[in-house]
Amino acid sequence: MPILETSRLALREFSDADADALARILSDPEAMRFYPAPYDRAGVEQWIARNRERYKNDGVGLWAMILKPTGELIGDCGILLQQVEGEHLYEIGYHLRRDFWHQGLATEAAVACRQWGFQNLKADRLISLIRPENIPSQRVAERNGMKIWKEIDWRGLPHVVYSIEKLTP
Ligand SMILES: CC(C)(COP(=O)(O)OP(=O)(O)OC[C@H]1O[C@@H](n2cnc3c(N)ncnc32)[C@H](O)[C@@H]1OP(=O)(O)O)[C@@H](O)C(=O)NCCC(=O)NCCS
Repeated sequence: MPILETSRLALREFSDADADALARILSDPEAMRFYPAPYDRAGVEQWIARNRERYKNDGVGLWAMILKPTGELIGDCGILLQQVEGEHLYEIGYHLRRDFWHQGLATEAAVACRQWGFQNLKADRLISLIRPENIPSQRVAERNGMKIWKEIDWRGLPHVVYSIEKLTP
């Protein structure tokens, strides 16, 4: 059952059976160049387990990004409950398989998550935490209507906090 759909994509919960497809993204050194290291197989399985815990505990997490015409898993996008400088905030995150970059797919998923988040969560603000060097990800945040809010150290590394506030009617 998808959590949400866009014209080209469906987002659904991850299961253990997705480890091979997800490894094509999280174990790719090029896709993970702004992370401390690419994930090994055990790391990918733990990543899925962590997100399954998030679905249970937070009602959200990173979801599997499915290309509707083929049913292929090509990335992840979703919402994470994070603690940022003592504040609980919902973050939109995304990772896309390299051969699907530059088609607007990450933006399509991120925009849908922003709309879903403001409709379904008690949140006045959604953020994306991005390394200053990660220009492609910052472009996605900007296309998702976000602006730079502040710069912080996050898990020992400098991050730009992009943010968008809910429009009050
Ligand atoms: C961040 C990441 C998801 C961005 O992927 P992306 O393909 O650049 O982003 P989009 O899917 O939104 O595609 C936008 C590009 O497609 C182009 N495009 C083509 N067709 C498009 C369409 N129909 N709609 C929108 N953009 C389209 C845009 O012009 C844009 O081009 P640009 O890259 O030259 O600016 C990708 O680089 C990635 O997976 N990186 C590794 C993981 C990562 O760092 N994640 C973020 C952690 S904070």
